[in-house]
Amino acid sequence: MERIPLAKPYWDEECEKAAITALSSGRWVKGPQAKKFGEEFADWCGAISAIPCQSGSAALWAAMRLLDIGPGDEVIVPGMTFIATATSVSLAGATPIFADIEEDYWCICPDDVEAKITENTKAVIGVHIFGQPFSSRLKEVCTKHNIALVEDAAQAHGSKLDGVKAGAIGDVACFSFFPSKNMAVGGEGGMITTTREDLAEKMSRIVDHGRNEVLESIELGTNLRMSEVSAAIGRIQLKHLNDWTKKRNVNANSINHSTKIRPNSEHAWHQLCVLSENPEDLISKFDSAGIDARVHYPLACNKHQVYSDHLQHKESLPICDDVASRLVAIPVHPSLSDECIMRINSVLNL
Ligand SMILES: Cc1ncc(COP(=O)(O)O)c(C=O)c1O
Repeated sequence: MERIPLAKPYWDEECEKAAITALSSGRWVKGPQAKKFGEEFADWCGAISAIPCQSGSAALWAAMRLLDIGPGDEVIVPGMTFIATATSVSLAGATPIFADIEEDYWCICPDDVEAKITENTKAVIGVHIFGQPFSSRLKEVCTKHNIALVEDAAQAHGSKLDGVKAGAIGDVACFSFFPSKNMAVGGEGGMITTTREDLAEKMSRIVDHGRNEVLESIELGTNLRMSEVSAAIGRIQLKHLNDWTKKRNVNANSINHSTKIRPNSEHAWHQLCVLSENPEDLISKFDSAGIDARVHYPLACNKHQVYSDHLQHKESLPICDDVASRLVAIPVHPSLSDECIMRINSVLNL
């Protein structure tokens, strides 16, 4: 019986050919592939500009630089997310402020965000967690208080909120192409997008040492550029992405779960997580059936050791603390066959 992994990166002859062509062109960096990948990605998600970079974490750091976020500034982030959402703020010298999540959808709670806004709040990073878009009220809160909205879309390639794709909802958005993500680039990779004309030029500079066209560094940046090989692979994967998102939705509809989907939105099903009273037992049942499953995320971000000096280190974020360690991610990726789905359901129905 073949084991069913949690994620299965896609690779075909076309990806292979694109990678070899990029390599044999002799132009390994700063070439046409990255330029076209950015243009095609912006077109695909509806942003005005998109710049490929080295990872989702790099994209998040670049977003902080782009919005001039630094010491003395606060950025509100959800307590339950991958740690990079919060550490990108810390790496920029600013302070992440942890907000609780919604009970139904597990995205950042707009009411808690609004309660935590101070005169130092510069931005909110909303995460489309597991592919579920955050609430449209988050955007209203940001607009009302005149603060920037950054989308952490690392798990949300193809998610839609009120008909708008992730990547074109906030001021800036950050994607990851880590191999387990909904599309990948054959290694590490990320993308930063913006909907604001005034940020587009600066965005392309930040990933390239903050340099202008005469190679003077006019602001702080570093080398976050994506290689030509990765961009060439990404361009092929992008062509499949809409089909993969559809298949993820078909799979999620066929799996016996009770995850709620936000009205007026489309889920990208990066992960299908089931809330369990006994996660260890559930994971071991999946394991016995030859299926990978694991807890996502075992600990709220403010409780990580890296934040042991943070004012909120011991603070309880009630919903985060309740669901952290109880959400079990199970396979939903587009390579699942009908037989795989039957095996998954047979464990869920036990
Ligand atoms: C929500 C979220 N943010 C940020 C990241 C960071 O992306 P990367 O691993 O490409 O640096 C990830 C990836 O795991 C993620 O899931």
